[in-house]
Amino acid sequence: MKKLIISPEDIARRVKELGREISRDYQGKSLVLVGVLNGAFIFMADLVRSLDLPEEVEIDFIRVASYGKSSRSSGTITLSKDVEVDLAGRHLLLVEDIVDTGSTMAWLKDYFLKGPRQAPLSVCCCTLIDKEERRKIQVNCEYVGFPGPDGFLVGYGLDYAEQFRHLPGIYHLTLEH
Ligand code: IMP
Ligand code: MG
Repeated sequence: MKKLIISPEDIARRVKELGREISRDYQGKSLVLVGVLNGAFIFMADLVRSLDLPEEVEIDFIRVASYGKSSRSSGTITLSKDVEVDLAGRHLLLVEDIVDTGSTMAWLKDYFLKGPRQAPLSVCCCTLIDKEERRKIQVNCEYVGFPGPDGFLVGYGLDYAEQFRHLPGIYHLTLEH
């Protein structure tokens, strides 16, 4: 069973606000937005179109896989698609669908700050949903669309077993047994 909790109109309004905030903060700076696949693809598409930054904005994607005992949010994180843009001398904004335990975002921030290539000038995070009270690893999100409602969410890019990503709103999903 699924119940609408954030309407497409509410999402659109909030994404526009985030776009304004980000545009203000990165004015005059060279910015690269990196979306975390697959979940962030719709959010990323709307967010970049709400930016008011003249030029010097580049867009790329990264994909990570996490393996562990549970099907998500645990265990070892490995890179399955790296970014291809040059991050040297640029400011990086990571765009995520949900930050939950924090392991993915903590891994990503570390990867860019301490990883194999020259670190960007800064690494910040923009997440559509922040389930802050579920953190296992402390990681800060500089831009948050919505503080995390309880439960498992789908729609607007978020999936359950690759389903529901196409829904324009965000739904709370209850699994029937
Ligand atoms: P973390 O590493 O525990 O922060 O996990 C973050 C990832 O778990 C997100 O990028 C999502 O892919 C997934 N995730 C966490 N909660 C949800 C949810 O409610 N719906 C769909 N995916 C979720
Ligand atoms: Mg994700």
